[in-house]
Amino acid sequence: MAGAKQHAHWSSRWAFMMAAVGSAVGLGNIWKFPYEAGSGGGGVFVLIYLFFIFFIGTPVLVAELSLGRRGQKSPIGSMEKIAKEEGKSKLWSLIGWSGVIGGFVVISYYSVVGGWTLAYVANAAIGAFEGVDKVSAAALFKEGLQQSETTMILWHAAFMFITIGIVAKGVEDGLEKAVTFLMPALFVLLLFMVIYAAVTADFLKALDFLFWPRAKDLTVDVALNALGQSFFSLSLALGSIMTYGSYLTKDVSIGKSAVTIAAADTLVAIMAGLAIFPLVFTYGLKTGEGPGLIFATLPIAFGSMDFGVIIGTLFFTLLAVAAITSAISLLEPAVSYVEERTSLSRRQVAIALGVAAFLIGTLSAMGMPGNSLGDVSIFGMNIMDAKGYITNNVMMPLGGLFIALFVGWFISRKTMMEELAMSEPSFRIWYLLVRFVCPIAISVVFVTVAFG
Ligand code: TRP
Repeated sequence: MAGAKQHAHWSSRWAFMMAAVGSAVGLGNIWKFPYEAGSGGGGVFVLIYLFFIFFIGTPVLVAELSLGRRGQKSPIGSMEKIAKEEGKSKLWSLIGWSGVIGGFVVISYYSVVGGWTLAYVANAAIGAFEGVDKVSAAALFKEGLQQSETTMILWHAAFMFITIGIVAKGVEDGLEKAVTFLMPALFVLLLFMVIYAAVTADFLKALDFLFWPRAKDLTVDVALNALGQSFFSLSLALGSIMTYGSYLTKDVSIGKSAVTIAAADTLVAIMAGLAIFPLVFTYGLKTGEGPGLIFATLPIAFGSMDFGVIIGTLFFTLLAVAAITSAISLLEPAVSYVEERTSLSRRQVAIALGVAAFLIGTLSAMGMPGNSLGDVSIFGMNIMDAKGYITNNVMMPLGGLFIALFVGWFISRKTMMEELAMSEPSFRIWYLLVRFVCPIAISVVFVTVAFG
C-alpha cells in the first residue's frame, strides 16, 4: 500500500456484531466466570455480576464504542484527537495508553490459557477422557499440562501463532470470516452441554448455588471480583472495544449493538455455569476449585457420555475459537497503534508484538505452582494471578471510571447526542448511568477495598 494508511472498516453491521460478540465471548465466559462464581459463593457473585453488567458495563460499553467511532484511530490516537476537539487536556490519552498496555498484559496470559484449550482439543480427540474420574481428570490437568512446562509452552506458542496469523491479515479478511459461523456453533454446543448436565447431573443444586444469594458470601472482595469480571467479560477498558468502535461506520446504532452484545455475553456465561455446576455437584468436586475448574469437570462428562470423543473434541475446538476471537481483540489495539505511528506494515507489527506477548506469556506459564518460576511471588500471587489481578481489579475498573467521567462530564452533551443518535428517553437513561451511577459505583467498590 502506498501513501497514507487507510483506517479499515467493517463490511457490515452483522460483521461488526459478530466480531464484538467474538471479542466479548471467550475464556472469560466459559473458563473464568464459572470459577469466579464458584470461588465467590455462587448466588451473591452472580447477582452482583448481573447488576454490574447491565448498569455499569453496558453504559461503559456504549461510551467506549462511541469514543472509538468518534476518534477513528487507535485508542491512543482517538483519545488524543477527541480531547483536542473538545478542548480538553492531552492527559486523557492516558486512557488509551492504559488500554493498549493493559490489553497487551492480558493477551500475554490469556494466550497461555488459550493454549490449554488447544491441548484439550488434542486430549479429547485421542480419547484421553475415556473413563476418567475426579482424580484422574485433575491429574490430567495438573501433571499432564500445568506442571509440564514444555507441553504448556508449545500449546501456548500454537495459540499465539494462530492469533498472529489472523491479526496480520486485518479485520475484514482475517477476523470476519472466522467469527460469523463459529460463534453460533459454539452457542449450540453449549446449549447441548446444559441439557446434558440437566438430564444427567444435579441441576437443581446448581440452580440453587448460582441463583440463590447467601448473605454470608457477601464480601468486598467478591464485589470487586464481580466488577472486574463484568468488565473483563465485556472486553471493556483495555482498548479492544474502542478499536472495534473505530472500525464502525456511522449508520450503526451503538446503543442497540451494546445491549445485544451484553445480552449475548451474559447468556453464554450463565449457560457455562449451568453446564458445569451440575457436574461439579454430582461428581463431588469443589466449587472453589479455581482456574482448573472446567478442565477438571468437563472431561468427566465427555469421558462417560456416548460419542464423548467427538463431542468433547468439538467443544474444546469451539472454545479455542472463542478464545482466539477474543485474543485477536486484545492484540489489535497495540497493533493498530504501532501501525498508525510507524511505517511498518500490519503484518510486521502483528508478528513483532505477538512474539513479544508470547515471550512475556511464557513467564506466566513458568510461574504456575510447581514450575520453574513457581516460587516467584508478586504481592503474594504467582505471576499469572498477579497479571490477572492488576488488569482485572485495577486497570479495568480505573479505565472504566475514567471513560465514564470523560464521556459524562468532559465531552459536551451535544457531541454525545450526535454520536449516539438515540431516542431522547434512552439517551437520558444512559447519560444518567454514565455520569452518576458508573463513577459512584466503581468508586465505592474501590474505596471499600482500599480502606476496608
Ligand atoms: N472478553 C474476553 C473474554 O471474556 C476477553 C477480552 C477480550 C478482554 N478483549 C478484552 C478482556 C479487553 C478485557 C479487555 O474472554
